[in-house]
Amino acid sequence: MVNRCVCFKKRFVELKKIARRKKANTFAELQQYVVFGRNCQRCRPYVNKMLATGETVFDVMDEAEAAHWEKQG
Ligand code: FES
Repeated sequence: MVNRCVCFKKRFVELKKIARRKKANTFAELQQYVVFGRNCQRCRPYVNKMLATGETVFDVMDEAEAAHWEKQG
């Protein structure tokens, strides 16, 4: 189960609230309001999927799915 940016200890449920409040629609926009995703970047496809779908808890993505969501932000 993946539910946070591990490097910065930021749960996706928190990131989603901030995204809604600030009307941040992309990974980069969201980074203007909260510090996350600046290290290993493994959270990037999950945050992109969260921004697109509203989901905050994910199964671990395989490479193909991660590559797909990597490009969505
Ligand atoms: S898990 Fe988000 S930067 Fe490493």
